[in-house]
Amino acid sequence: MSVWAVLAAAGRGERLRVVDSVDEQSSTTRPGADRPKAFAQLGGRPLLAESLERLEASAWIDSIAVVAPPGWEEPVILLAEELGCGKVVASVAGGDSRAASVRIGVGEVADDAAVILVHDAARPLVSERVLERLIGALNEGWDGAVPGLALSDTVKRVRDEAVVETLPRGELRAVQTPQAFVAAVLRAAVSGGDEATDCSSLVEARGGRVTVVEGDPRLLKVTTADDLALVESWLGSEP
Ligand code: CTP
Ligand code: MG
Repeated sequence: MSVWAVLAAAGRGERLRVVDSVDEQSSTTRPGADRPKAFAQLGGRPLLAESLERLEASAWIDSIAVVAPPGWEEPVILLAEELGCGKVVASVAGGDSRAASVRIGVGEVADDAAVILVHDAARPLVSERVLERLIGALNEGWDGAVPGLALSDTVKRVRDEAVVETLPRGELRAVQTPQAFVAAVLRAAVSGGDEATDCSSLVEARGGRVTVVEGDPRLLKVTTADDLALVESWLGSEP
């Protein structure tokens, strides 16, 4: 059974840069401020290096296709070579949305792949334990598996500033990546909607059976400079 990882790294990282444009001094001094998020500096190297190295080291992953920021396909290959990531078989330019980038990445996956795992480079601290839980769920017969965390806040639906509904917290999960799917199921699903914020929703919309496995708080998505600092403080201190 061959497992492919599609690493979505094509985003611009606008929200990471907003801080830099407000504070001009930091934009000239902070390394990585002028680059896409995948090449922002985390622990002295590109953010992308962290997830790339972890997927390379995973016993569950056979091959990796990276979806790069347009124009950064070559630097991605050089980084992979530098890190000794021999599982990286493709670096392709992404599209205008995450969904479009994932579709491009899935297009690079070999026909004989059994499982495709989609991961955001914006979540650097992917762990072997999460990968094991995801693949385990597929082995139990699910079409897809996603890592999720229970919520500690109460969530309400709001329309025109008025609360219209309070959702049952016990049923809710905040969902992360990597997300793992039976390859044929994901291939069929990615042809749809560009508005989807994750792959699972596309699979669900087609009637696919997706389960939630335990997520990891350290799989935090780097959106702002504060997130980057927080993830950086966790580097090397994982259980
Ligand atoms: N992504 C992508 N292609 C896009 C947009 C996003 O591959 N056109 C990827 C990002 O590289 C990231 C993941 O999808 O790994 C989640 O997106 P997000 O956190 O929103 O990253 P950015 O779009 O880069 O950030 P921003 O929205 O602040 O510009
Ligand atoms: Mg985005």
